[in-house]
Amino acid sequence: MAKMTASKTQEEQWMVQNQVFRIYDLVYRLPPHAQSVNFELRRDDHIEYLTRSLTQLGPNFTVLDANRPWLCYWIIHSIALLGDCVDDNLESDAIDFLRRCQDPNGGYGGGPGQMPHLATTYAAINALLTLGGHKSLSSINREKLYSFLLRMKDTSGGFRMHDGGEVDVRACYTAISVASVLNILDERLTQNVGDYIISCQTYEGGISGEPGAEAHGGYTFCGLAAMVLINEVHRLDLPGLINWVVFRQGIECGFQGRTNKLVDGCYSFWQGGVAAIIQRLHLMIKEQLGLSSTFKFDCITESDDDSSDTDREKPMLEGLNNNGYNFIKGSKGMRPLFNSMALQQYILLCTQEEAGFRDKPGKRRDHYHTCYVLSGLSVCHHCNVKEAETPPLPKDVMGPYSNLLEPVHPLYNIVLDKYYEAHEFFARL
Ligand code: FPP
Ligand code: ZN
Repeated sequence: MAKMTASKTQEEQWMVQNQVFRIYDLVYRLPPHAQSVNFELRRDDHIEYLTRSLTQLGPNFTVLDANRPWLCYWIIHSIALLGDCVDDNLESDAIDFLRRCQDPNGGYGGGPGQMPHLATTYAAINALLTLGGHKSLSSINREKLYSFLLRMKDTSGGFRMHDGGEVDVRACYTAISVASVLNILDERLTQNVGDYIISCQTYEGGISGEPGAEAHGGYTFCGLAAMVLINEVHRLDLPGLINWVVFRQGIECGFQGRTNKLVDGCYSFWQGGVAAIIQRLHLMIKEQLGLSSTFKFDCITESDDDSSDTDREKPMLEGLNNNGYNFIKGSKGMRPLFNSMALQQYILLCTQEEAGFRDKPGKRRDHYHTCYVLSGLSVCHHCNVKEAETPPLPKDVMGPYSNLLEPVHPLYNIVLDKYYEAHEFFARL
């Protein structure tokens, strides 16, 4: 009989899963009092690491010179998730820095004088909205930004990342997300973008970066969130999407980004965020499955979150720019589609360092993973309450209740209070 040899990817998978299982085994063999410290979120140490990085970064960071608004967003958003904010001087410096990244013809570049790019525009806008306040919000030139977005619009309906750059689902999401949150989304921007995103839903059910490519968690989040923001999410095959995302959480308890790839902490948000969005699409899912509207999914009941008015009709705001607002004001009609406790276990035991978070054991912390692991942890904490603002029950937070993070708006990945402040500010303009 021929001898079977393991493939390289199979060997890598075994190595990672063995490392993860060894960590779980070590922790669960400890006596309870010694175990509990491992499940604590090292909040103060994370805040210290993040705040320090906002002041100064070492020479290794020169490779991220075209990503400086991203560093601002990853750090400022992480601090906000942890329930803190940056001090006045740092806040003022960050606003001034991002103002210098703003192109005279609209959009934000990776640093002062760099060409405007949709990814860094999204990062800069989300960072400024998270800082909040008049100085920050009024520093954004919405008129110029609108013309930059129109310039990035491609004949396919999609958007390109920058002048002469690639068209993909990331560009569609970042353009639609900033336009929506700044109240400048209109039909010229949305025209045919839904057609482009639909053409990226693959046979697996997830969404790829461009037509014909492989479904991936990052692009699936982008495609799904953009479709909700333009009010065309019913055009996606939602049961197919569910079928894909539920199988992305693996035996290591964390999420992978795509089929047959390794677990990684950042997908706690990209895939966890997809699951959080789907929880609010229950009516559309019933319709696509041909179920009667009276059919009840495994629901979050009122005794779970003790809000008494959960099924009452809520006033909806009119217009394309309010899709994000109406979405978050709706109720979650189904329980989460992933195992929240398992994911929290992977996050706390396998990705948390003394300060900061990493992809997986053996990797080093970075600001990107700190941001998206914390965003995913927030999704876990808040996925079992029906209304966005209801505080979770202690049973839904792994470790001490003091681990609890601020809730996010899952379509923009902005802390909810900061989103509401921005929505009110830009609704008046
Ligand atoms: C694969 O990397 C990663 C990608 C193909 C890109 C993923 C896209 C995002 C994370 C979304 C970006 C979103 C915005 C808002 C700009 P890999 O092959 O190293 O990782 P893998 O093995 O986990 O797939
Ligand atoms: Zn990652």
